[in-house]
Amino acid sequence: MTTPTLEGVRAFDEIPIIEFPENYADTYLSFLAKTARLHGPVVRRAVPDEMHERFGAWFVYLIGPDANRFVLQTHRHLFSHDLGWTPALEPIMDRGLLNTDDPAHAWQRRLMNPAFAVAYMNRYVPLMSRVVERRTSDWLERGEVDLYEESREITFDVAAEALVGLESGATVDRLRYLFVQLLHGETNVDETFEEFMERVIRARTELDEMLLRLIAERRRSPTDDILGMLVSAHDEDGHSLSDRELLGQVHILLVAGHETTTTLNAWLLYLLASHPAYLGRVHAELDAALGAADGALDLKALRGLRLLGYAMDEAGRLYPPVAALPRGTVADVTFGGYVIPAGTQIRLVVGACHRLPEIFAEPDRFDPDRFAPPREEGKANPYALAIFGGGPRICIGINFAQIEMRIAAAHILRHFSLEPIPQQPVVHRYYGVTPSIPSGIHVRVHERRARTDG
Ligand code: HEM
Repeated sequence: MTTPTLEGVRAFDEIPIIEFPENYADTYLSFLAKTARLHGPVVRRAVPDEMHERFGAWFVYLIGPDANRFVLQTHRHLFSHDLGWTPALEPIMDRGLLNTDDPAHAWQRRLMNPAFAVAYMNRYVPLMSRVVERRTSDWLERGEVDLYEESREITFDVAAEALVGLESGATVDRLRYLFVQLLHGETNVDETFEEFMERVIRARTELDEMLLRLIAERRRSPTDDILGMLVSAHDEDGHSLSDRELLGQVHILLVAGHETTTTLNAWLLYLLASHPAYLGRVHAELDAALGAADGALDLKALRGLRLLGYAMDEAGRLYPPVAALPRGTVADVTFGGYVIPAGTQIRLVVGACHRLPEIFAEPDRFDPDRFAPPREEGKANPYALAIFGGGPRICIGINFAQIEMRIAAAHILRHFSLEPIPQQPVVHRYYGVTPSIPSGIHVRVHERRARTDG
């Protein structure tokens, strides 16, 4: 029974309690969207016993456009990134831009912003195009590829070169392997938790040694990539980042800079390949904008690809690479009619908001035209679609990721026709910090002849 306080605000212990279904990892977003429709935008779940020390007793899930606006914009000072993200990232990563609060965050973000501005993207276009062309050059010969694996090869090569100045080769391949061990190690079901942790720590140790060597090299001879910029930066008081602080920043940049784009790029290509009518329109747009010849892609033409842009938004709406944003409350917070005490673990589930039918009609259907006029779903509420977060702490890599995906899609769709292998289990599994596609996405690759016919 509910016992309203004087102001009509209910206490924490009246927030509805939910339990996850057995198959929650594969149904996380639609389950939480249904839950929000049933109970409202605030629900809580007991933290499993073995995680109490890290997270406390409850996770509180906030769902819907009002929650997004509240946490990301109007009341963001009440929510700490550090208290939310740091326990979620342990022991994989230390501290970087993502899990630092102001004032340290404001200085770091000001420092990095210029390298992620739209105008700066021109610099990355040739690098991204070169990597995509090289990584896809043997696709026809191979005949069948896993889009998830291939996307990771592309995005990690791009991130390593653009962010820390490492060109493709054995070192980059080893770093990519170690990051996969850290992020998706838990998909190995045959090992015990202790064995898993040992493996994570071994991978983490090797990764740290490699990155610290790289940092030492950059200190000796600074480069003009983002790591070079961080190595030589000083704040107003002359403070510069220590090796350990640089390591934390590089870890987060390399993970955030490739893991998210990997999944979204794979989904985008798969969804387009599975929806030939929409794909036909994207092909026409690409051919008209970029011409039948293999000319160099320029930023203006890439940004003008409207239909491809809608498909990217739709892939990200359905399968967001960061579906739940962790926060810790720094004061008592009143939202949705409940008081949430200071020190509570929050999960702002932007991905469940994407599945609310009152905002996105038939939310489980791939329908990129929902973003085109006259429907423009989500426009009525600018916080409803939050693939990249929102407010002042919106993803710093949003331009980088969007240009990279446009380059990859433009090249791949103009050169190849992708035929998904029938009846494969393609699932977006929410288990661990970021979602994964455990069985990959397998497609047959054919030459796209239509390209030369215009
Ligand atoms: C499809 C690709 C991407 C998606 C969906 C994505 C999503 C997000 C989201 C949702 C946030 C906000 C997290 C929060 O509020 O708790 C975020 C933050 C961040 N992202 Fe991305 N991201 C992508 C690509 C990138 C890339 C390419 C980079 C770097 C090159 C990057 C670096 C970061 C960093 C450093 C932050 C923290 C920003 C801050 O707190 O100031 N992301 N990203």
